[in-house]
Amino acid sequence: MCLSLDALLTDWNGETLVVRRDAPSGAWIFVAVHSTQLGPSAGGTRMKTYGRLEDAAQDALRLSAAMTLKFAVPRIARGGGKAVIHIPAALAPEERRGVLLRYGALVQSLGGQFSTGPDVGTSADDMNVIAETAAPYVFGRTPSAGGAGASGPATALGVFTGIEVACERVFGTASLAGRRVLVQGMGSVGTALAVRLDAAGAEVLYHDTDEAAVAAARDLPFATFVPADAVYGTACDVFAPCALGGTLNAASIPRLNCRAVVGGANNQLGAPDDAERLRARGILYAPDYVVNVGGAMAIPGMEQDGWSLEEADEAVRDRVRAALRQVFEDAESSGTTPETAARRLAATHLAGAGSPQETDATRSMTAQTRNGHP
Ligand code: PHE
Repeated sequence: MCLSLDALLTDWNGETLVVRRDAPSGAWIFVAVHSTQLGPSAGGTRMKTYGRLEDAAQDALRLSAAMTLKFAVPRIARGGGKAVIHIPAALAPEERRGVLLRYGALVQSLGGQFSTGPDVGTSADDMNVIAETAAPYVFGRTPSAGGAGASGPATALGVFTGIEVACERVFGTASLAGRRVLVQGMGSVGTALAVRLDAAGAEVLYHDTDEAAVAAARDLPFATFVPADAVYGTACDVFAPCALGGTLNAASIPRLNCRAVVGGANNQLGAPDDAERLRARGILYAPDYVVNVGGAMAIPGMEQDGWSLEEADEAVRDRVRAALRQVFEDAESSGTTPETAARRLAATHLAGAGSPQETDATRSMTAQTRNGHP
């Protein structure tokens, strides 16, 4: 389905979209500021090759909206934003560095309206490069460059906590000893999650579509590889999507053989109806943005608010646990899905900050489009 720019922007209800063509590399850069209602926006920088330009724009827009929900649920004083760098093909190191520096200058030009961190396709080393031109609006540089390092482990800690809360609800105990968890996607979050699950006594299964990621996962002797055609059908207690979005959909949900879905990927539901589809199958779904806030909470907390690693871990654990318990309780008491309950919770927190968002009266959107050269 090819969505028009009109449909994409109309569905989005965000604040600002900046579009930059990076002529030297042929990349397109999208910076989407969805909301600054709770504070200046923040969100990762995703760098990859999309099929079409619309797909890249759509990813930036949807991911920025997810960041707004992510910060609103635990009442973090930040707004939702996201950047997508759509590269025509894999870039040579010098070309890549050039794009990141020019992208950093674009972030800098936004004057703090948007701060960024790592996401799919970018690392702490990339944040060091972006910071050369975008400082101070960059989170997650390497420790040697003065940053708090990779965000994957903190995100994994929140997802792990979410799995405990889901197990507590489904099985009556939060203990993961002997629980079987299937991790879909062994990137920075999936891998850190697998290690934590193993340490807690869980049985870990995994899949990744990328050969290099599978080769790296072989270093984890406790984890069992599951082939692509068995990812959804394999019996497990918890299915943990930690790859790209949209893996929970009309085709995959009927095949799931698990009691709960709790993972780190952003935008796991292919469509809004998929939350109801999961509920109809008796599968407890932890909304992605409720449990994957760890990196976006811990890294800025350590870099800006002076948290120690222990304080950051404690904040992630406590806030994910409290939020997810509340979401599950609200969903049950109001007879709705956890996704709907979580959106209501976020809307309440956003409304408390000022005028309510997402009502037609306040639905103002200014799309600012730039097509410039560095
Ligand atoms: N990739 C993170 C997310 O989706 C974004 C992030 C990481 C933002 C670290 C700030 C700091 O939540």
